[in-house]
Amino acid sequence: MTEGVHTSPTFTPRVFSGIQPTGNLHLGNYLGALKRFADSQNDGMQSIYCMVDLHAITTWQDPADLRHATRELCAGFIASGLDPERSILFNQSQVPEHAQLAWVFNCVARMGWMQRMTQFKDKAGKNTQNVSLGLFGYPALMAADILAYHATHVPVGEDQKQHLELTRDIAIKFNNDYGVEFFPITEPVIEGVATRVMSLRDGAKKMSKSDPSDMSRINLTDDADTIAKKIRKAKTDPEPLPDSVEGLEDRPEARNLVNIYAALADSTPEAVIADHAGQQFGTFKPSLADLAVAKLAPISAEMSRLMQDTSEIDAILRRGAEQARAIAAPILVRTYEIIGMVGAGHNHAPEVSDEYRFWE
Ligand code: TYM
Repeated sequence: MTEGVHTSPTFTPRVFSGIQPTGNLHLGNYLGALKRFADSQNDGMQSIYCMVDLHAITTWQDPADLRHATRELCAGFIASGLDPERSILFNQSQVPEHAQLAWVFNCVARMGWMQRMTQFKDKAGKNTQNVSLGLFGYPALMAADILAYHATHVPVGEDQKQHLELTRDIAIKFNNDYGVEFFPITEPVIEGVATRVMSLRDGAKKMSKSDPSDMSRINLTDDADTIAKKIRKAKTDPEPLPDSVEGLEDRPEARNLVNIYAALADSTPEAVIADHAGQQFGTFKPSLADLAVAKLAPISAEMSRLMQDTSEIDAILRRGAEQARAIAAPILVRTYEIIGMVGAGHNHAPEVSDEYRFWE
């Protein structure tokens, strides 16, 4: 057992999540992530949200587009109801501990674990020899994001589940290898009806930033007419809505629209079906479009207002980064000490507050 480390530290409950600033922030990101982050602000846990710009460059990003997307994503967080006074909002590259801890985790994670990642396989496709090394190591950086804060809860959509399992594997292996209980075994929080919002063009595919068809997703920057048009043109089947949710089982497109309705209305699919049973899509789609416009138009308006003065956004990100560093820096120092790096405590500017020195 490494000196000075508790055998069973109690980890302060802490939420961490991240979103890539790669543009096209969409309804899936909103319902699967942003809205849930905002809704959970009153849960009493410290929460930390990150624009993961280092993850974004695992695939090519034009520098000007990346800067714009990072600020726009921050605007999206705030417009969705995240309060920078209550949650820490920052961009990943301003906190060097993410990249430093990711290196350590590159040496903990095994090639075989990474090769099993479905997101890597999907993104690389047949092109595995020509994608960046960063894309392959992506999940180790994600584990570093989470574990640099000893985060205990990570709210995400379904698609991130495998990455969170890998984060747990990395924490377990690190703790075992060094005989410590230093990193928490993080809980994925994948809850609600909108953890997998599907494409509006194909109920078998998730709604995605990278889908070449803009009609497949509702972007948070879309205006009211565009939102209504995309919903009107969404793929459906010819049947009316059933009178129970079981009736949606083999109807992925219908189920998706009902789930979207329920999530936007803070309701349940059961209640939506009870209200709309027997309706044709010609009737249901306009109701859904009205609801989507009512909920999303204020967000889009607030995002464009915030983007008019990016200095305010930059100040929020800078302050968030300082707060984030105050937590991550001592955790990295301790990690370095555990693994045997000489002089680990030097060159780390932020003062370590007593609150985070629970392992002593
Ligand atoms: P990203 O940027 O692809 O997506 C951000 C969040 O949105 C969720 N999401 C969806 N939810 C429901 N339906 C959809 N169609 C949909 N599409 C996306 C994602 O699950 C995610 O919660 N690797 C992560 C970013 C990341 C991260 C982290 C997340 C980096 N480090 C640490 C949590 C903790 C990603 O690419 O998310």
